[in-house]
Amino acid sequence: MLATQSDIRHELSAQLSDARCQSDALFALVRPDSLYDRPIAERHRIIFYVGHLEAFDWNLFHERVLGLKSFHPEFDRLFAFGIDPVGGGLPTDQPSEWPSIAAVQEYVRKIRSILDEKLADALADPQLPASDGFPLSTLLNVAIEHRLMHAETLAYMLHQLPLDRKVRQAEALDFDAAPVAHRSVEIPAGAVTLGLPRANVFGWDNEFEAHTVNVSAFAIDQYKVTNRQYLEFIAAGGYETPAFWSGDDWKWKSQQGISHPAFWKQDGEQWLYRTMFEDVPLPANWPVYVSQAEAKAYANWAGKRLPTEAEWQRAAYGTPGGEELAYPWGGEAWGGESWSGEARGREAPARFGNFDFARWSPVPVNAFPEGQSTFGVHGLLGNGWEWTSTEFAPFPGFEPFPFYRGYSADFFDGKHFVMKGGSARTAACMLRRTFRNWFQAHYQFIYTGFRCVSR
Ligand code: AVJ
Ligand code: FE
Repeated sequence: MLATQSDIRHELSAQLSDARCQSDALFALVRPDSLYDRPIAERHRIIFYVGHLEAFDWNLFHERVLGLKSFHPEFDRLFAFGIDPVGGGLPTDQPSEWPSIAAVQEYVRKIRSILDEKLADALADPQLPASDGFPLSTLLNVAIEHRLMHAETLAYMLHQLPLDRKVRQAEALDFDAAPVAHRSVEIPAGAVTLGLPRANVFGWDNEFEAHTVNVSAFAIDQYKVTNRQYLEFIAAGGYETPAFWSGDDWKWKSQQGISHPAFWKQDGEQWLYRTMFEDVPLPANWPVYVSQAEAKAYANWAGKRLPTEAEWQRAAYGTPGGEELAYPWGGEAWGGESWSGEARGREAPARFGNFDFARWSPVPVNAFPEGQSTFGVHGLLGNGWEWTSTEFAPFPGFEPFPFYRGYSADFFDGKHFVMKGGSARTAACMLRRTFRNWFQAHYQFIYTGFRCVSR
């Protein structure tokens, strides 16, 4: 059945409140005396993000769509943008330079109540208000997905917060360590569609436009690289052998004194894994989470390389007949006449993978056989993003959103690389085929692993 306009509008409001619940739940994990901590040296203190999520929505809507005046321009600016310094110095601000938690909470409360009232009116208007030619629904999707992306990046951040600074949640961990039979899967040459056509479907600026790329035949690991495999690389002296690393990566690794993944911790003779809430013996079959530099070094050691974005896409969505699927396991035909963009995400039920906030931790790389692609590649969506070798760059026809020009364009600098797939903390709506994530090559704190290809 076709969704009516009013269903879709109602759905968007519901998604925004669900996303708020997700972000509120994350801040509730932080002990109140730790809200001014900075768990990752390169990032803002936690308090910034409490203000940022609301300031972002407010800055997006208040003037441009709702014609409202700001009630706190100073906070609107203070909380407008996060930081992603590549090679710059570390932030040096002190907790005392930030407003009190009470003042930030009041700012949040006020924004929510104004936006809820005014957005409801705007959504009820049969002439759905537009901004720069974009309908209100696009801006709402931007607000919803922006918040959900932060629900994931905040999880990375809180992961690095010492255990005694957060409120522990019980979690059943899947330690199944029966040996995984690693093999590689042959993918025949074929055409891949990257990107979205400009139609009535939401995507971020970097997802446009649709275009075709031809990919030569290659072989790809059936599963993500596991902690057990990565341990062999370490045991073989991987971190002490310059030949496996690019000059730049070697310099970074040496200067930072890095000798293992950030989620691992050495405890005498054994390795521990730092989950969100406890340290456990290294789970052999979980995917390893590493920076792109470390992933490339492993691939060089193994005599392989990282896949390109197009190769990853072909392994995930391609079929021997040339048809391209919406999800590795199938799903509704993508972008077709009957495809309802608003229903996206519902085609990704939990039996297909570890995503959509299903848990905090990874599961073994072979845990979801039902989620495999037509070519038989497992675990592509969820359980950890996957690095590609593709530089984050615009697709042909790229146009920045006029209401958020820097979202992608600020990162087209040759230092950021495309990640595909998703983690346990990736919301279902961002498991769409064209969603592109990215980080700089030297960032270790993300839920991102990799698999290798050859040829
Ligand atoms: C798309 C996850 C790389 O966190 O830097 C949030 C998302 N941009 N606020 C990031 C984002 C602005 C972005 N990533
Ligand atoms: Fe942000």
